[in-house]
Amino acid sequence: MKLAFGIALAASVLVVGCSGSKQEGAAPGGSSSKPGKKIVVGFSQIGAESGWRTANTESIKSEAAKRGIELRFSDAQQKQENQIKALRSFIAQKVDVIMFSPVVEAGWGPVMQEIKDAGIPVIVADRRPDVSEDMYVTFIGSDFVEEGRRAARWLAKKMNGKATILELQGTPGSAPAIDRKKGFEEVLKDYPGMKIVLSQSGDFTRAGGKQAMEAFLKSPVGRTANALFAHNDDMALGAIQAIEEAGLKPGKDIVIVSIDGVRGAFEAMVAGKLNCTVECNPIIGPQLFDAVEAVVAGKQLPKRIVVEEGVYDQSVAAKELPNRKY
Ligand code: AHR
Repeated sequence: MKLAFGIALAASVLVVGCSGSKQEGAAPGGSSSKPGKKIVVGFSQIGAESGWRTANTESIKSEAAKRGIELRFSDAQQKQENQIKALRSFIAQKVDVIMFSPVVEAGWGPVMQEIKDAGIPVIVADRRPDVSEDMYVTFIGSDFVEEGRRAARWLAKKMNGKATILELQGTPGSAPAIDRKKGFEEVLKDYPGMKIVLSQSGDFTRAGGKQAMEAFLKSPVGRTANALFAHNDDMALGAIQAIEEAGLKPGKDIVIVSIDGVRGAFEAMVAGKLNCTVECNPIIGPQLFDAVEAVVAGKQLPKRIVVEEGVYDQSVAAKELPNRKY
């Protein structure tokens, strides 16, 4: 059973914004796709930094294959410059639709203007870029601020409003790192007994989480902590290793809440080493390609589509584990 939920949804997504802005539906200039012609989509993925990302890539690739859509996939290895190169190459290839998940928020204005000038519609997946809404058709992804709030609410309840917290942040400048921190700290304002004492980036990777946790546990302040908020499960799993190597018990000496809901997090909860994971659903291939087909057909789309998610803790982990799809 899920412990907390987003708002109940009609299908698998919730449409939260539906402005009458200029670029709803097809791109400026329209799509070049002709009836019967195979749709070609260029997709610039961030990388393969986490279990979440691997599941997201798999969802996108398999959905394209299922629909007979040609997917030109490019892995940016977590580098913005590689993403910009890929986007320019999709313009040169004259693909029908460009899809991308921006690694960081800032710095997309010029290349997105080039895409707009070329008349190619853009679908933003997972993370938002810091550009005006008329630069893309729709943005499909999670509500990261709400995920941060959910993590803080769960922790406040678990710790009775008193905790000395370590924070493992995601990639600096990325939407999930910025928004999850924001949501978490927003809730903390209501709990004067809960404080983040140390905060460091682990770049959303397991190795990064382990390294940052080792540094925390070497510092006198870090050793006073009794809770950990990790912006994703991979970093939490790395931190668990560091906590054990320091002779402490993860999940007991340090209560851990993280975000994603990957299978490894459920296994760690069943083992009593992780306390809670806030879901961030990577299986968005079907919604993305619904949007691709709608854009090519010249249909209207909302500017924002939010993915449905829940919160899971140790009390439900064993029952939920067999149902996890990623
Ligand atoms: O953008 C989604 C985030 O990116 C996931 O929470 C994290 O695991 C991934 O790397």
